[in-house]
Formats: sequence, structure tokens, C-alpha cells
Amino acid sequence: MRKLITLLFAVAIFVFACNDNTSPSNNNASAPANNPPAAPVDNSPYAAGKGVYQRICIVCHQPDGTGLEGTYPPLAKSDFLLADKRRAILQVILGSSNAITVNGKKYNSLMPAQSNLKDDEVAAVLNYVFHSFDNNGFTVTEADVKSVRDSVANAEKNSPYYAGKTIYTAKCASCHTADGAATRVCPPLAGSAYLLSNKKRAITQLIKGTSEEITVDGKKYTGSMPAQELSDEDAAAVINYITHSFGNKGYTVTEADVKSAR
Ligand code: HEC
Ligand code: HEC
Repeated sequence: MRKLITLLFAVAIFVFACNDNTSPSNNNASAPANNPPAAPVDNSPYAAGKGVYQRICIVCHQPDGTGLEGTYPPLAKSDFLLADKRRAILQVILGSSNAITVNGKKYNSLMPAQSNLKDDEVAAVLNYVFHSFDNNGFTVTEADVKSVRDSVANAEKNSPYYAGKTIYTAKCASCHTADGAATRVCPPLAGSAYLLSNKKRAITQLIKGTSEEITVDGKKYTGSMPAQELSDEDAAAVINYITHSFGNKGYTVTEADVKSAR
């Protein structure tokens, strides 16, 4: 054992001494001949964006940006992409699930929002796709991405249901889920004919709670919802949010409606 330690120590000193005497420019020469050369550094202006593309977008849009007909639209020579810089930024930060036409072909599938990407990464990946696959498109700056993000946030704040959404997120989403879907215990709010058919009942259930057996969309629910402590204004706001979200298009509740139900 001691012999081994001495040997290792000697090797360490040898290596240390060698390094000490070797200028950086000689390092390569002293490397064993059968080592493969280091991968070349990608100095192209789109290297960072290419990295993001390969990490995230490639699985759907493919290495050459041609997508998959009928499911994933192409980015290569995409008339849709190349027409509108702001829309391209929105596409990455919000994703989409609409019917779109790209190079004459219809697509109606879902691209998830890329909510983990920072502004500089969104700019980088778009600059890569705008200048790859034979595209010759826009240049996107970090500031462009920030301003699109700010405008989305402002539009949301100015939407009539913003206050209700904030209350919903804080007080209801833990049971009813962020998108109003049914759970094992909670009835659905999304598409609930039960909710949308009776304004007075919805107000009463909300402010007084409910623990009766109820049937919503053909399914029985026997859980209980505690009375929600909300001002008249907040109760109206949160009901207006749920009757106008998750695909619902329902009635509007006023503060006075809530007051009269108390
Ligand atoms: C999970 C698959 C998936 C991933 C990952 C994905 N996309 Fe998409 N992308 C789609 C689908 C599906 C559509 C069409 C959505 C629709 O119909 O609304 C689309 C549409 C687009 C469009 C507009 C249509 C076009 O072809 O010009 C752009 C631009 C785009 N994606 C860019 C990106 C970029 C950049 C990334 C990576 C940051 C990315 N996508 C990641 C699936 C994906
Ligand atoms: C602790 C979990 C919980 C919380 C928090 C909660 N609910 Fe409920 N909610 C339920 C359950 C369980 C029912 C079904 C009760 C029953 O069977 O009588 C229900 C029923 C309802 C109904 C009537 C049924 C339907 O699907 O239309 C509405 C409307 C409703 N909740 C809205 C809300 C709103 C708005 C909030 C937030 C202010 C909220 N709930 C908070 C659990 C909850």
C-alpha cells in the first residue's frame, strides 16, 4: 500500500512539473496522439439559438425545420413564420392551439407555451429559425421579446375578468384546478350546465357553501365546499370569471345580485 501511495505521489509530481513547464500552446502537442481533437467551437451568430432549438423545438419541428405534415408545421420556408415577427414571438412564449395554414396546408394541433425560456433565449431561437433552413427572416432582439411579453401582460390586466382570475387562482384553483376541470371530488366548472343554468344558485353556493349531493354533467358529487369569505364585489368578480372562462360563455353577476342573495 505504501509503495502504491509513493508511486502515485511521484506521478502527481511528474504531471505537475510537466504542466508547469508547458506553455498553453504546447499542451496539444503533449496530448496522447490517439485523443480525438476537441469539438470545434460553434462561433456562428446563431449558436445559442441552435442550442435552444436542439434542446426544445427539434422533437416536433425536426432537425431540418420541415416538421411533420398534418401535425407539426414546417419552419423551413414557412410563409406563416416569415410574415410576422410579433406573431412568431407570441408563438414561442404563449404556444397555440388554433387552426393555422402554413404553406397552403392546414394544421390544428397544440404547441405548448415555452414558458421556461428567458427573453434572450426566445430571441436567440427565433434568430436561429429565421436564418436557418434556407430562411432569410427577421432579426429579433431581447427588447422585442420583452415588449411583446409586456403587452400580453397589460392586455390581461385590462381584461374585464382579471380581478376574478386573481381571486380564483388564490381561492378556488386548489380544488377546482386552474382550468376548471372536474376532479374526483369537485364538479367541473368548465362547460358545467349546472353552473351556467342558474345564476342565483351559483351565488348562494359560493357565499354559503354547499354539501348536498349534486349532479353535474351527469355525474354525482357528494363533497362539500365551505362558504367562501368574499366581499360582494369579489364574489361577483370570481363568478364572472368562471362564467366567462374555460370555454364558458355565461351570465354576468353584479355586486347587487350578491348583496340580495346574502
Ligand atoms: C410539442 C411539439 C412542439 C414543440 C416542442 C415546439 N412546437 Fe412549434 N408548433 C407545434 C405545433 C403543433 C404548431 C401548430 C400549432 C397550432 O395549430 O396552433 C407549432 C407552430 C409553430 C410556429 C408557427 C407555424 C409555423 O410553422 O411557422 C412556429 C414559428 C413555431 N411553432 C416555432 C417553434 C419553436 C421556435 C419552438 C422551440 C422553442 C417550438 N415551436 C417548439 C409543435 C411544437
Ligand atoms: C375545498 C375545495 C373547494 C374550494 C376551495 C372551492 N370549491 Fe367550489 N366546490 C367544491 C366541491 C366539493 C363542490 C361540490 C359540492 C357539493 O356536492 O355540494 C363545489 C361546487 C362548486 C360550484 C357548483 C357546482 C358546479 O360545478 O357548478 C361552484 C359554482 C363552485 N364550486 C365555485 C367555486 C369558486 C368560484 C370557488 C373559489 C371562490 C370555489 N368553488 C372554491 C370544492 C371547492
